[in-house]
Amino acid sequence: MSVTQFEPTDARAAFPCFDEPNFKATFNISLGHSAQYNALSNMPLLERIPICERRNWVWSIFKQTEIMSTYLVAYSINDFEGYASYSAPYERSVKFTTWSRASVIQQCKYAAEIGPRIMDYYEQLFDIRYPLPKMDQLAVPDFSAGAMENWGLITYREASLLYSEEASSLTDKQHVTNIIAHELAHQWFGNLVTMEWWNDLWLNEGFATYVATLGMDKMCSDWNAYEEESLDNVLAILNTDSFCSTRPIHQPVSRGGQIAELFDSITYRKGAVIIRMMHIFIGDKAFHNGLNSYLESHSYINAKQEDLWLALTKASHQVKSIPQDLDVKTVMDRWTLQTGIPLVTVHRHYAKKTATVTQRRFLIYDKPIPIKENQHPLEVDSCWFVPISYTTDSESNFISTEPRAWLRCTEHHEILPLELQDLPGDDEWLILNMQLATPYRVNYDTKNWELIIKGLQCGVFKRIHVMNRAQLIDDSLTLAWSGHLSYTLALELLGYLKHEHEYMPWRAALEQLTAIDRIIRRTSDFEEFQHFMIHLLDPIYNYLEGMLEDSDNRHHVALKTLINRWACRLCQADCVKEALKYYHRWFILNNRDERNPVPQNLRSVIYCTAVQHGDADDWNFLWQRYRNSTVATEKRLILLSLTCSHDVGQIERYLRLIFNEKSVIRKQDASQIFAAIVRNDVGFHIAKEFLMHKFEMLQKFYEPNRRELASLLVQIAHHINCPRDYQELRRFIDAHKDLLECSVRSLRRALEQAQLNLRWLKRRFPEFTNNLVMRYYD
Ligand code: BES
Ligand code: ZN
Repeated sequence: MSVTQFEPTDARAAFPCFDEPNFKATFNISLGHSAQYNALSNMPLLERIPICERRNWVWSIFKQTEIMSTYLVAYSINDFEGYASYSAPYERSVKFTTWSRASVIQQCKYAAEIGPRIMDYYEQLFDIRYPLPKMDQLAVPDFSAGAMENWGLITYREASLLYSEEASSLTDKQHVTNIIAHELAHQWFGNLVTMEWWNDLWLNEGFATYVATLGMDKMCSDWNAYEEESLDNVLAILNTDSFCSTRPIHQPVSRGGQIAELFDSITYRKGAVIIRMMHIFIGDKAFHNGLNSYLESHSYINAKQEDLWLALTKASHQVKSIPQDLDVKTVMDRWTLQTGIPLVTVHRHYAKKTATVTQRRFLIYDKPIPIKENQHPLEVDSCWFVPISYTTDSESNFISTEPRAWLRCTEHHEILPLELQDLPGDDEWLILNMQLATPYRVNYDTKNWELIIKGLQCGVFKRIHVMNRAQLIDDSLTLAWSGHLSYTLALELLGYLKHEHEYMPWRAALEQLTAIDRIIRRTSDFEEFQHFMIHLLDPIYNYLEGMLEDSDNRHHVALKTLINRWACRLCQADCVKEALKYYHRWFILNNRDERNPVPQNLRSVIYCTAVQHGDADDWNFLWQRYRNSTVATEKRLILLSLTCSHDVGQIERYLRLIFNEKSVIRKQDASQIFAAIVRNDVGFHIAKEFLMHKFEMLQKFYEPNRRELASLLVQIAHHINCPRDYQELRRFIDAHKDLLECSVRSLRRALEQAQLNLRWLKRRFPEFTNNLVMRYYD
């Protein structure tokens, strides 16, 4: 099969064009190909006519497109099969077809059903029709991105589109739903209304990411997707934006080569996070009216962030949902043009029943790595307009997310502190930022932290919203990491987890502890940490009945997978024993390619544990299943599980296999497998040596995709925990500077992460371990 991928700047490589998003045009596409194949493009086929000069060849001629940007043009020649479905029976419905290799066509069913439903929902949500007569969704067997929103012809990786009732997990299903919802959202945000220039890429990707959470939530309300995805995005951004090497959302670019680097978590996640923040502070009505008028007035043309601000301000003032003296631009420019996120500090005056609230930029460590080129001076004198919502113990109102006050700035962006009045006395906690509507960290005075810890005790902790429980964990552990707070306090707070049964707080905690685990893992203190972790996980592991049963409640499933993954990785005895039992039951079957008794949602844990504790036979058994499986999600899972081996020779052989052009492993999967090997404590050194010695081969393997090559170095840097490795890597990157230019930002960030690891080990590690010992033995 053949297929195109043009975004951001490759349409020019296929045909001569003014290849920038604001040179919109209509396109008349004709493809000449052998008659045995189908041809697909953005628009429906008009006719096929024989090519007289070439026997058995035809021209496929497509209907003229709408006015559109070049990067959205797409076409494919293939021998795939189509799975037909239609959007809802309105007076005009859209013809949906989901295409894949004939052998896996049954796995298109889910995408073929959910796609039209999501599209119907968006048509209602934006009150604008999808303007094309058809939509094709195409599963591409080897595809470097996850998916691409070409107008009317969306392309996907197989594992992002195909779902198997028998073999895929609930997490796979959620991933497929999310990615379809994302690409369909682009049909409005991106395709109908396109950013004027790449510096506003967040208008495409931020909206697609945010709108997808709304779409998913509508389709499958029992998944809790809106809250979970929102939390995931906020926590990721609070982390990313505390680095010196971060960047503003709105980012000037001029050279083609710099554009690809903008597809990062700032564009996607911070974009989505500040859109949610606006949604919450201007309210539902203003948000929908504003978006509708933004989309209507820029259809078939382009837009800048200013255009969005104007539409939303008008809609908000109309329904009076923001103060008349405030406009969306004043608030939002601070969030899109300025780098980083604020740390909001709350000092309560208990006798006066007031609190002083102030802000400054939060940096996990304010000394950046000196790198000469392209380095902007560090902005620290920043000021944000921050919508402030809060509640107290007696109110416990976490539902009202709208601002009760605003932290403001002067015209010259100087900070204006805020005084909160009428607060309770010293017997009640105060918590800011209901449901993390706004991306900022909060630090309180010690007394208030202590009140919060009391509020998290058994029996009462559910008065605090589950997203805010996650926030308190994430803030306290981060502030302890950076030295703003003591580990005594942070770990005491963490102790409440022994009663916690919800996914989000656990996820927040384990994400933070992963960062510590990464550093401690290859030190002699790991055992201490291991004991502490097993002790921490014990109550929840038992509550979820360990590896037993496979509940269908998505909430339960996500938590169970998470907890079991940790338990088994820490070699908790019951977890390992049960995992091996399941695996063995599969191993001894005769028809193991038709029947797999391992519960779908526990497969990731079980396969990995079996490979880690098993021998060459276990590895080879799983490898054979990879070769025989026809399910893309299962194949991906197996490839990742095969990295769990602790056998040096096995890891070395696997590394050679993934980067071998002739192996049965696809190019699209190589870097993810490599990343998983780096995360394996035995694999780290092997992967590092391999990368440095085989760099030339790897470069050829990836050419012309140097960003993927650089991503291998990024993975290594993240896991560095000794100065010698750090120096070695820096020298290596310096020596290959020209080659790696396309990824300067992510490399700088990764080196900063490595530096942070070293610094934590030196400055915070002693306090952390002292507290562990105390906590574990009491
Ligand atoms: N527009 C992007 C695809 C893309 C990414 C093109 C990078 C060029 C460079 C697409 O809408 C997208 O965002 N895909 C994501 C998946 C999404 C669910 C986050 C991807 O490919 O990872
Ligand atoms: Zn996208």
